[in-house]
Amino acid sequence: MSISGRPILGIETSCDETAAAVVADGHIYSNTIFSQTEHSLYGGVVPELASRNHIRTLLPVVDQALAEADLELGDLCGIAVTQGPGLVGCLLVGISVGKGLALGSGLPLVGVHHIEGHLFAGSMAHPDLVPPFMALVASGGHTELIYVCAWGNYERWGRTRDDAAGEAFDKVAKILGLLREGEVTMGGPRISMFAEEGNPDAFDFPRALINDPGFDFSFSGLKTSVLYRIRDLAVEDLKAIRANIAASFQAAVVDVLVDKTLRAAREVGAERILLSGGVAANRALRAQLDDDASKLGMGVFYPPTPLCTDNAAMIAGAGAFRLSRGEVAGGNLNAAPRLPLPGLHERQV
Ligand code: KG4
Ligand code: ZN
Repeated sequence: MSISGRPILGIETSCDETAAAVVADGHIYSNTIFSQTEHSLYGGVVPELASRNHIRTLLPVVDQALAEADLELGDLCGIAVTQGPGLVGCLLVGISVGKGLALGSGLPLVGVHHIEGHLFAGSMAHPDLVPPFMALVASGGHTELIYVCAWGNYERWGRTRDDAAGEAFDKVAKILGLLREGEVTMGGPRISMFAEEGNPDAFDFPRALINDPGFDFSFSGLKTSVLYRIRDLAVEDLKAIRANIAASFQAAVVDVLVDKTLRAAREVGAERILLSGGVAANRALRAQLDDDASKLGMGVFYPPTPLCTDNAAMIAGAGAFRLSRGEVAGGNLNAAPRLPLPGLHERQV
């Protein structure tokens, strides 16, 4: 979905990944990413540190993306950059670099909403995934159930009321002492790995809001339950049960995500479901959604892991769509940490 089939450069710096990619007509020429690791020293992403790292690494990452695509700026049709939501200092670095490159090359610049990027990741991986479809975007920063009526026309069915699903994975991994040195936002893969050795029925953790007729999520109580369950345990005792805790915690998250997504899809009459965002990499989630959706005659699509987690190819994909609608940003494009998704309306009940 690029303009006249020419490639577009995507830039993503909304959190702690510095990423650039070149994409044309949904084909990914390059998808370069630099993941920051220093944040683990502080137990979470430090915004100032993340911005400084983006400043240091973004231009080399852009150069690498262009080199891997074997292209120069002059071969492109535009530059897409994440405008929000995200950490303001981090977004500003990407936007400033995007503006500089656009000014120097004469290419049009377009600001992209990060969640729209996650939605486009699905169609880039599966060109047959065309709207309408129900999308669950679950990452470290978001848990949103969005009905994609058409590209650019979105209906929100549900969202988290507190922690995002990925945030719950990250916090519980930290509580269980599963994170390796250098990791902050890799709780999901670690929980998932330990869960494979554990019994998902060992502990009965809460499935918040599962009987609520609405479609919102809540994960902070679940995290607190895990904390209460283990807080008085000696290190050795915790080690003995942490695979069971990981499996039971994961099962609680998966049950709620699958239940709400399928109920929303059924109610709106969607035949296709997209699972996107970092949590979409979770194998237990994919398997349960696949199984339960196929019983209802629905198809489930999920991008390969490098397109599920934050990346710039998805920003290029969404940017190509926005550019094809003539949406070119001016020199006043600014970071918007709470940017609303363009074309989003709330479901009318
Ligand atoms: O989309 P993403 O890269 O960044 C945000 O926009 O937040 O998602 C990162 C999140 C982290 O919370 C990480 O723990 C989670 O996705 N994640 C997973 C898995 N892989 C990444 N959660 C559960 N299972 C996984 N396999
Ligand atoms: Zn994301």
